[in-house]
Amino acid sequence: MLKLKLLPQTEDAIDAAAQVIVDLVAAQPDAVLGLATGGTMEPLYARLVAAHRDGFSFARVRTVNLDEYVGLDPRHPNSYHSYMARHFFDHVDVAPENIFIPRGEIDPQCAAAEYSALLDRLGPVDLQLLGIGANGHIGFNEPGTPLDAPTRVVELLADTISANARFFATGESVPSHAVTMGTAAILSARQVVALATGGAKAEALAAALDGPVSADCPASYLRLHPSCTLIADRAAGALL
Ligand code: GLP
Repeated sequence: MLKLKLLPQTEDAIDAAAQVIVDLVAAQPDAVLGLATGGTMEPLYARLVAAHRDGFSFARVRTVNLDEYVGLDPRHPNSYHSYMARHFFDHVDVAPENIFIPRGEIDPQCAAAEYSALLDRLGPVDLQLLGIGANGHIGFNEPGTPLDAPTRVVELLADTISANARFFATGESVPSHAVTMGTAAILSARQVVALATGGAKAEALAAALDGPVSADCPASYLRLHPSCTLIADRAAGALL
């Protein structure tokens, strides 16, 4: 069942999502957290870093990220490895050996197989944090992805490449492929928290919540999950 939490201010939505994570880790310090990237998540990680500065510990959590660009070295400033270090891991006490992110710098098929095996080994994610692409993607599961897609190499759609181009230097090309956790693994998480803020997400949210459950909008699959909360601000919820 999908629970919608519509909050007037962006900060309220971010706070609410951060609180779910803090509550889960407080109750289950060794939880497996599924983590997401993107502009939406930056203030959320800032909240978690602030909680850590106030004494909250992430020392025993294990983290699995949703995705990584193919062809980017972990040290590339736009790799999701760098993003996670910059916004979260460099500032908190997650043990480095408990951090897992698909590898963008090796053969992509090997990286996907390795990541899929790792996810099987860790077991279901306790709490999966999700952003939503403006085209309704989750992780890098683009429109057209079936419900039970495995963790794999994907080709990004043109609208995703242009949406993410804002993070790359002018003239630098955005990778065309990624390794992503599949919809099957995402939906097998015990709990999902999806966060959407800003008017650019309004159409995707309307399609996800009010349209058919369909591959045209992978975020609509969240309605089939037994325990998913979608947290949105007023702008993202404007068309609901
Ligand atoms: C990216 C990521 C997704 C993220 C989405 C939204 O492509 N792969 O995991 O949820 O796009 O990003 P943003 O928060 O920047 O809008």
